Order: sequence, then structure tokens, then C-alpha cells
Amino acid sequence: MNLPALLASLDARAHAAADWGKVASYIPELARVDPAQFAISVVLADGTLHSAGQSQTRFSIQSVSKVFTLACTLSRIGESLWSRVGREPSGDRFDSILLLEQEQGRPRNPFINAGALVTTDELLSGRAPREALSEILGFIRAAAGDDDIHIDGEVAASEQATGFRNIALANYLKSYDNLKNAPEMVLGTYFHQCAIEMTTEQLARAGRGIAGLPGAPLLLSPVKRRRIAALMMTCGHYDGSGDFAFRTGLPGKSGVGGGILVAVPGVASVAVWSPGLNAWGNSKVGTEAIEQLAHETGWSVF
Ligand code: DON
Repeated sequence: MNLPALLASLDARAHAAADWGKVASYIPELARVDPAQFAISVVLADGTLHSAGQSQTRFSIQSVSKVFTLACTLSRIGESLWSRVGREPSGDRFDSILLLEQEQGRPRNPFINAGALVTTDELLSGRAPREALSEILGFIRAAAGDDDIHIDGEVAASEQATGFRNIALANYLKSYDNLKNAPEMVLGTYFHQCAIEMTTEQLARAGRGIAGLPGAPLLLSPVKRRRIAALMMTCGHYDGSGDFAFRTGLPGKSGVGGGILVAVPGVASVAVWSPGLNAWGNSKVGTEAIEQLAHETGWSVF
């Protein structure tokens, strides 16, 4: 297999696409991003990095951050998180409130917004948001082996000013006694973790540990790594998780900024970015590229 040629062809195919999807409009800073952009980066088990497209362009990782926050929270408190958050797909939109009432305020999984808010709440544990955020950033920087990874304050402020559904979710969780900290503290931390910006090269490197690649910084035990990847497979694309699994056979976590982190266990860590989204709020062209990559390489967990 000629991986560099394959990635170049995915970039060419992306630009030939007639339909890039629609950028997220509910976060004003993201609504201004040009949808006609594409990047893909792959780190292989031998440590080599291959990229095509705008792999040096920083983008808002948004919900991809939930993978790293979950990793930090599990490392900090371990299994007790599961008394507050489930591990089943929800079948609902990422920002849905529906099941929260039916299920007494226990979110279905840590990747829907309600579950991510609880996971962030647990990481906060009475500390200042700055401390929890530096733990998340520290984890990502160590995982990527790169300190030049930061939070875009304008994106965070933009979501803070308009994130009424998340504000509703946090208050709803609090009413069920499933937030320990004040909703404003949890929301502030969550909006800033979502506003971390990275390139696909940085993100693919940061995913090496979750993909279990040899030589990756040892930040996660094999059991945690396997569990996080399993949740990516079953819940990482919200109500589009079944479709993503069906099309790619790989665990992936999407973000509304158009990024997707994909783990090919023991083989590769892949990051793709294209800001236009499909109907489920996941990168349209990014998903198509991963589907094609899986098809051409035969990479699959099955
Ligand atoms: O909480 C939100 O709505 C955003 N900060 C993140 C959502 C997201 O990335 C959903 N992913 N596709």
C-alpha cells in the first residue's frame, strides 16, 4: 500500500466533492469557517506520520475533546464515574435533553453533551476551572508530544454567549443532583475544553495511545484504552454512531468543528478534518474520507 498516494487521492477527492456539508451555525465563531477545507493525518505503528491537505491548519476540536477529558477523569477517579454516567448509545442528538428526564438525570454516555458535562464536573471536583483545564491540556500535550496546543478564547466566549442548550442541560443535571459543582463552573470549563484547537497532525499524534501504538506515551492502561475505544465505536458519533461503524468498521470521535479522531488498534491513529457537517453534526467529507481509507487499506476492528 502506498499510503502517501492514498492520502493525496483522498484530499483530491474531497476537493472534487460537490457537497461539503454545512458548518455548525449555532456557535457563531464556527459559523464563519469556510466549509471547503480538508486535512488528514495518519501515524503508523512505526511512528511515521503521513498527511495530506491542510494538516498544519488549526481547527476547533470541540467534542473530540471529550475523549481526552474522559481519559483524565477515568485516570483521576476510576470506575466510580459510571455511577453517574452510562455507557450506552443514546440514539438521540448530541445536545438532546429527552432521555435525561426519563432516566432521572443520568446521561446515557460520556460523549453526548449531558454526559460530557458530568465527566467534566467529576474532573473539576471543587477545583478552579483553570486547574481542570490545565490537566486536560497537559494530557493532550503529553499524548501528542507537543506543547504548542492551546485554547481559542474567542470560540469559548462565542459558545459561552450562545450555548443555551448546554446551559439548560447543566441546570437539569443539577436539579437531579448529578452535578457537584455550580453549573456555571462546569459550563465554563466545558466550553473551554471544546475550544482547544489543534491540527490534524497534532490530533493524530495525540491519539496514538488510544490506538495502542507502540512507542506512544504511556498515559492510559490497556483496559482504559480499550474501554475508551469501545465507547468511541458505540457512541462517538451520537445518533450517527451506527452509520459510522457500518461504513468504517472503526472507532471514531467526531466534533462539530469538523474533526474526527479514529483509532485503528495497534495499526494507526488517524485524524481528519473538514468543517462541513452531515445531518448528525459529524464531518461529512471527513466521514467519507475515513470510509474510503478503511476500504482501501482494509483497516477495521472486525
Ligand atoms: O457542546 C457543544 O454543543 C459543542 N461545544 C460540542 C458539540 C460537538 O462537537 C458535537 N459533535 N459533533
